[in-house]
Amino acid sequence: MITNPAIDEYISNLIPERSPLLTRLEQEAKAENIPIVQLPSAQVMRTLLLLHQPKSILEVGTAIGYSTIWLAEAAPKARIVTMDIDEERLARARANVAEAGCAERIEILSRDATLGLPQSYQFDCLFIDAAKGQYRTFLDLYLPHLRVGGLVISDNVLFRGLVATPDEASKRQRPMIDKLLAFNAHLAGHPDLETTFLPVGDGLAVSLKKK
Ligand SMILES: C[S@@+](CC[C@H](N)C(=O)[O-])C[C@H]1O[C@@H](n2cnc3c(N)ncnc32)[C@H](O)[C@@H]1O
Repeated sequence: MITNPAIDEYISNLIPERSPLLTRLEQEAKAENIPIVQLPSAQVMRTLLLLHQPKSILEVGTAIGYSTIWLAEAAPKARIVTMDIDEERLARARANVAEAGCAERIEILSRDATLGLPQSYQFDCLFIDAAKGQYRTFLDLYLPHLRVGGLVISDNVLFRGLVATPDEASKRQRPMIDKLLAFNAHLAGHPDLETTFLPVGDGLAVSLKKK
Protein backbone atom coordinates (compact mmCIF):
# COMPACT_ATOMS: atom_id res chain seq x y z
CA MET A 1 0.00 0.00 0.00
CA ILE A 2 1.46 3.38 -0.98
CA THR A 3 -0.83 5.47 1.20
CA ASN A 4 -1.17 5.63 4.97
CA PRO A 5 -3.52 2.68 5.69
CA ALA A 6 -5.56 4.70 8.19
CA ILE A 7 -6.08 7.52 5.70
CA ASP A 8 -6.87 4.99 2.98
CA GLU A 9 -9.50 3.36 5.16
CA TYR A 10 -10.91 6.76 6.11
CA ILE A 11 -11.21 7.80 2.44
CA SER A 12 -12.65 4.40 1.45
CA ASN A 13 -15.34 4.75 4.12
CA LEU A 14 -16.38 8.09 2.61
CA ILE A 15 -17.00 6.52 -0.81
CA PRO A 16 -20.72 5.89 -1.32
CA GLU A 17 -21.84 2.31 -0.96
CA ARG A 18 -21.61 0.29 -4.15
CA SER A 19 -24.39 -1.73 -5.75
CA PRO A 20 -24.86 -5.28 -4.40
CA LEU A 21 -23.24 -6.55 -7.65
CA LEU A 22 -20.07 -4.44 -7.29
CA THR A 23 -19.88 -5.31 -3.58
CA ARG A 24 -20.10 -9.01 -4.47
CA LEU A 25 -17.35 -8.63 -7.10
CA GLU A 26 -15.11 -6.89 -4.54
CA GLN A 27 -15.60 -9.86 -2.22
CA GLU A 28 -15.00 -12.42 -4.98
CA ALA A 29 -11.83 -10.63 -6.12
CA LYS A 30 -10.52 -10.54 -2.56
CA ALA A 31 -11.35 -14.20 -1.89
CA GLU A 32 -9.85 -15.41 -5.19
CA ASN A 33 -6.91 -13.01 -5.40
CA ILE A 34 -8.13 -11.44 -8.63
CA PRO A 35 -6.47 -8.04 -9.07
CA ILE A 36 -9.04 -5.27 -9.43
CA VAL A 37 -8.73 -1.50 -9.26
CA GLN A 38 -8.58 -0.22 -5.69
CA LEU A 39 -11.64 1.56 -4.42
CA PRO A 40 -10.15 5.08 -4.02
CA SER A 41 -8.78 4.84 -7.58
CA ALA A 42 -12.16 3.71 -8.91
CA GLN A 43 -13.75 6.73 -7.24
CA VAL A 44 -11.18 9.08 -8.81
CA MET A 45 -11.91 7.53 -12.23
CA ARG A 46 -15.62 7.95 -11.64
CA THR A 47 -15.19 11.66 -10.89
CA LEU A 48 -12.93 12.12 -13.93
CA LEU A 49 -15.48 10.44 -16.20
CA LEU A 50 -18.37 12.45 -14.75
CA LEU A 51 -16.37 15.59 -15.62
CA HIS A 52 -15.12 14.37 -18.98
CA GLN A 53 -18.32 12.63 -20.17
CA PRO A 54 -16.67 10.33 -22.72
CA LYS A 55 -18.85 8.79 -25.39
CA SER A 56 -16.45 5.92 -25.97
CA ILE A 57 -13.98 4.14 -23.72
CA LEU A 58 -11.31 1.50 -24.32
CA GLU A 59 -10.35 -0.61 -21.33
CA VAL A 60 -7.22 -2.77 -21.53
CA GLY A 61 -7.59 -5.47 -18.85
CA THR A 62 -11.17 -6.56 -18.10
CA ALA A 63 -10.64 -9.32 -15.51
CA ILE A 64 -14.16 -10.08 -14.16
CA GLY A 65 -15.65 -6.77 -15.30
CA TYR A 66 -15.47 -4.90 -11.99
CA SER A 67 -13.85 -1.73 -13.36
CA THR A 68 -15.85 -2.10 -16.58
CA ILE A 69 -19.05 -1.72 -14.56
CA TRP A 70 -17.61 1.29 -12.69
CA LEU A 71 -16.78 2.89 -16.06
CA ALA A 72 -20.25 2.09 -17.41
CA GLU A 73 -21.94 3.62 -14.36
CA ALA A 74 -19.77 6.77 -14.47
CA ALA A 75 -20.35 7.23 -18.21
CA PRO A 76 -23.93 6.02 -18.75
CA LYS A 77 -23.99 7.07 -22.41
CA ALA A 78 -20.61 5.65 -23.35
CA ARG A 79 -19.89 2.71 -25.59
CA ILE A 80 -17.15 0.62 -23.99
CA VAL A 81 -14.70 -1.79 -25.59
CA THR A 82 -12.82 -3.94 -23.10
CA MET A 83 -10.32 -6.73 -23.70
CA ASP A 84 -8.53 -9.45 -21.81
CA ILE A 85 -6.66 -12.66 -22.62
CA ASP A 86 -8.06 -14.74 -19.78
CA GLU A 87 -11.08 -16.67 -21.12
CA GLU A 88 -12.29 -17.78 -17.71
CA ARG A 89 -12.33 -14.24 -16.35
CA LEU A 90 -13.96 -12.97 -19.53
CA ALA A 91 -16.83 -15.45 -19.17
CA ARG A 92 -17.45 -14.07 -15.70
CA ALA A 93 -17.12 -10.50 -16.99
CA ARG A 94 -19.81 -11.18 -19.62
CA ALA A 95 -22.19 -12.52 -16.97
CA ASN A 96 -21.43 -9.63 -14.60
CA VAL A 97 -21.88 -6.97 -17.28
CA ALA A 98 -25.21 -8.58 -18.26
CA GLU A 99 -26.28 -8.57 -14.61
CA ALA A 100 -25.36 -4.88 -14.41
CA GLY A 101 -27.74 -4.27 -17.33
CA CYS A 102 -25.21 -2.64 -19.65
CA ALA A 103 -24.26 -5.51 -21.97
CA GLU A 104 -25.69 -3.83 -25.08
CA ARG A 105 -23.13 -0.99 -24.97
CA ILE A 106 -20.12 -3.02 -23.88
CA GLU A 107 -18.04 -4.98 -26.37
CA ILE A 108 -16.00 -7.60 -24.54
CA LEU A 109 -13.09 -8.87 -26.62
CA SER A 110 -11.08 -11.99 -26.00
CA ARG A 111 -7.85 -10.57 -27.32
CA ASP A 112 -4.20 -10.07 -26.56
CA ALA A 113 -4.00 -6.31 -26.18
CA THR A 114 -0.48 -6.26 -27.65
CA LEU A 115 -2.14 -7.00 -31.02
CA GLY A 116 -3.89 -3.63 -31.25
CA LEU A 117 -7.25 -2.85 -32.85
CA PRO A 118 -8.38 -1.83 -36.35
CA GLN A 119 -7.88 1.90 -36.93
CA SER A 120 -11.66 2.38 -37.19
CA TYR A 121 -11.92 2.15 -33.40
CA GLN A 122 -11.81 5.65 -31.90
CA PHE A 123 -12.16 6.55 -28.22
CA ASP A 124 -12.49 9.50 -25.84
CA CYS A 125 -10.93 7.64 -22.93
CA LEU A 126 -8.34 4.89 -22.56
CA PHE A 127 -7.99 2.94 -19.31
CA ILE A 128 -4.79 0.87 -19.09
CA ASP A 129 -4.92 -1.86 -16.45
CA ALA A 130 -3.29 -5.03 -17.82
CA ALA A 131 0.27 -6.44 -17.72
CA LYS A 132 2.34 -3.64 -16.18
CA GLY A 133 5.48 -4.57 -18.11
CA GLN A 134 3.60 -3.84 -21.35
CA TYR A 135 2.09 -0.44 -20.54
CA ARG A 136 4.37 1.30 -23.05
CA THR A 137 3.24 -1.09 -25.79
CA PHE A 138 -0.43 -0.48 -24.89
CA LEU A 139 0.06 3.30 -24.93
CA ASP A 140 1.89 3.27 -28.25
CA LEU A 141 -0.79 1.05 -29.79
CA TYR A 142 -3.87 2.84 -28.50
CA LEU A 143 -2.89 6.52 -28.22
CA PRO A 144 -3.49 6.91 -31.99
CA HIS A 145 -7.07 5.66 -31.36
CA LEU A 146 -7.67 8.44 -28.80
CA ARG A 147 -9.25 11.69 -29.93
CA VAL A 148 -7.52 14.96 -29.08
CA GLY A 149 -8.92 16.08 -25.73
CA GLY A 150 -9.22 12.44 -24.64
CA LEU A 151 -8.04 11.00 -21.33
CA VAL A 152 -5.59 8.19 -20.64
CA ILE A 153 -5.88 6.68 -17.18
CA SER A 154 -3.13 4.21 -16.23
CA ASP A 155 -3.44 2.18 -13.03
CA ASN A 156 -0.70 0.77 -10.77
CA VAL A 157 1.91 3.24 -12.03
CA LEU A 158 3.46 3.62 -8.55
CA PHE A 159 3.34 -0.15 -7.91
CA ARG A 160 3.36 -0.41 -4.11
CA GLY A 161 5.64 2.64 -4.02
CA LEU A 162 8.51 0.59 -5.45
CA VAL A 163 9.00 2.98 -8.39
CA ALA A 164 10.33 5.47 -5.83
CA THR A 165 12.52 2.88 -4.10
CA PRO A 166 13.39 0.38 -6.88
CA ASP A 167 16.27 -1.10 -4.90
CA GLU A 168 13.67 -2.51 -2.50
CA ALA A 169 12.01 -4.49 -5.31
CA SER A 170 12.59 -8.21 -5.38
CA LYS A 171 14.70 -9.72 -8.15
CA ARG A 172 11.47 -10.94 -9.77
CA GLN A 173 9.76 -7.53 -9.55
CA ARG A 174 12.73 -5.46 -10.76
CA PRO A 175 12.28 -5.85 -14.55
CA MET A 176 8.64 -4.79 -14.25
CA ILE A 177 9.53 -1.86 -12.00
CA ASP A 178 12.15 -0.74 -14.53
CA LYS A 179 9.52 -0.89 -17.28
CA LEU A 180 7.08 1.12 -15.16
CA LEU A 181 9.81 3.70 -14.46
CA ALA A 182 10.43 4.02 -18.20
CA PHE A 183 6.67 4.21 -18.87
CA ASN A 184 6.14 6.96 -16.28
CA ALA A 185 9.08 8.96 -17.66
CA HIS A 186 7.67 8.51 -21.17
CA LEU A 187 4.22 9.74 -20.06
CA ALA A 188 5.73 12.71 -18.23
CA GLY A 189 7.83 13.76 -21.23
CA HIS A 190 5.35 12.93 -24.00
CA PRO A 191 4.84 16.04 -26.16
CA ASP A 192 1.19 15.18 -26.90
CA LEU A 193 0.22 14.47 -23.27
CA GLU A 194 -0.20 16.45 -20.09
CA THR A 195 0.11 13.96 -17.23
CA THR A 196 -0.38 14.03 -13.50
CA PHE A 197 0.58 11.18 -11.16
CA LEU A 198 -1.78 10.63 -8.27
CA PRO A 199 -0.65 8.71 -5.17
CA VAL A 200 -4.04 7.06 -4.82
CA GLY A 201 -4.64 3.31 -4.63
CA ASP A 202 -1.62 1.76 -6.34
CA GLY A 203 -0.89 4.98 -8.23
CA LEU A 204 -2.95 6.47 -11.02
CA ALA A 205 -1.55 8.45 -13.96
CA VAL A 206 -4.06 10.76 -15.62
CA SER A 207 -3.00 12.09 -19.03
CA LEU A 208 -4.81 14.51 -21.31
CA LYS A 209 -4.13 14.20 -25.04
CA LYS A 210 -3.38 17.79 -26.00
CA LYS A 211 -2.62 17.27 -29.67
C1 LIG B 1 -5.44 -5.89 -12.99
S1 LIG B 1 -6.36 -7.02 -13.95
C2 LIG B 1 -7.65 -5.99 -14.58
C3 LIG B 1 -8.58 -5.52 -13.51
C4 LIG B 1 -9.80 -4.79 -13.99
N1 LIG B 1 -9.43 -3.65 -14.82
C5 LIG B 1 -10.57 -4.30 -12.79
O1 LIG B 1 -10.10 -3.35 -12.15
O2 LIG B 1 -11.61 -4.85 -12.48
C6 LIG B 1 -5.34 -7.22 -15.34
C7 LIG B 1 -5.93 -8.09 -16.43
O3 LIG B 1 -5.13 -7.90 -17.60
C8 LIG B 1 -5.16 -9.10 -18.33
N2 LIG B 1 -4.02 -9.08 -19.27
C9 LIG B 1 -2.71 -9.25 -19.00
N3 LIG B 1 -2.00 -9.14 -20.14
C10 LIG B 1 -2.88 -8.91 -21.14
C11 LIG B 1 -2.76 -8.72 -22.55
N4 LIG B 1 -1.58 -8.74 -23.16
N5 LIG B 1 -3.88 -8.51 -23.26
C12 LIG B 1 -5.10 -8.49 -22.67
N6 LIG B 1 -5.27 -8.66 -21.34
C13 LIG B 1 -4.18 -8.86 -20.59
C14 LIG B 1 -5.09 -10.20 -17.27
O4 LIG B 1 -5.62 -11.39 -17.77
C15 LIG B 1 -5.92 -9.58 -16.13
O5 LIG B 1 -7.24 -10.08 -16.10
